[in-house]
Amino acid sequence: MKIRVLGSAAGGGFPQWNCNCSNCDGVRRGTVKATRRTQSSIAVSANGEDWLLVNASPDLLAQIAANPELQPARQARDTGIAAVLVMDAQIDHVTGLLMLRERGAPLPLYATDAVWGDLGTGFPIGPILSHYCGVEHRPIALDGRPLDIPALPGVRIDPLPLLSKAPPYSPHRAAPQRGDNIGLVVTNLATGRRAFYAPGLGQLEPHVLEAMRGADLLLVDGTTWTNDEMIRLGFSKKTAADMGHLAQSGENGMIAVLDSISGARERPRRKVLIHINNTNPILIEDGPERRVLDEHGIEVAYDGMTFEL
Ligand code: MLT
Ligand code: MN
Ligand code: ZN
Repeated sequence: MKIRVLGSAAGGGFPQWNCNCSNCDGVRRGTVKATRRTQSSIAVSANGEDWLLVNASPDLLAQIAANPELQPARQARDTGIAAVLVMDAQIDHVTGLLMLRERGAPLPLYATDAVWGDLGTGFPIGPILSHYCGVEHRPIALDGRPLDIPALPGVRIDPLPLLSKAPPYSPHRAAPQRGDNIGLVVTNLATGRRAFYAPGLGQLEPHVLEAMRGADLLLVDGTTWTNDEMIRLGFSKKTAADMGHLAQSGENGMIAVLDSISGARERPRRKVLIHINNTNPILIEDGPERRVLDEHGIEVAYDGMTFEL
């Protein structure tokens, strides 16, 4: 089973088009040691030919171009993207669905009822695509059963409900619903190896920690270093926690959480931060924050990073 990071940045990407923070300005000018990143998405494959796209980023077309496996060219019109799963209805995770409109057949789309509802109302991608390829909604029930994904034989996907909020344009923004945000446990049934993926992880509920303890690969929320990062830079009035993200530093931050789930295990566990906001100092590859991560055995995802499980 392969997992390919298509986009490792949070919403806005790195550099963000209108941002001149020291990271964005520095990477544009080449004055800092940092690497450009596109917006949040991974792809999973059992056979290296058929892929489940997990989150459809606004940068999807560039990501397909950068990953030729997603275009196997078996016929005049073709794609390696057999189906899409979206983990929430946020702009950075669903906008790319519109870019798939030229498909010849309806797009199989795995989404919870809460997310599918938002994609029929607040951000009506479903109704829009009905005028093009159409969408075949495959509900994610959150009833404890794994998803049935024919494109991924031998791979089990278990969705987990996460506490967070629907996007600002959701009709139920003020009344969070189960299924607004999910995490995934992706297991290769042949090797028993599993990944836990949650690009937005504001609160570590017991069922989430349990799933993390059982994983060989943790691909988790790396949005900000400090909770008030965006406020201090004058870019937002919201903390990371307000946006459903757990900052890395601090007593109960992501580094502390990842340390706490260490412990002895047969196979080494990789801990990788993903969905990194352009303001995050961990983007500076020779910076002090990156050294702190190194000391804790934590990696930073980059576009194209690939895991074989
Ligand atoms: C998030 O991850 O909190 C959202 O993607 C934020 C955004 O869309 O700007
Ligand atoms: Mn996001
Ligand atoms: Zn920036």
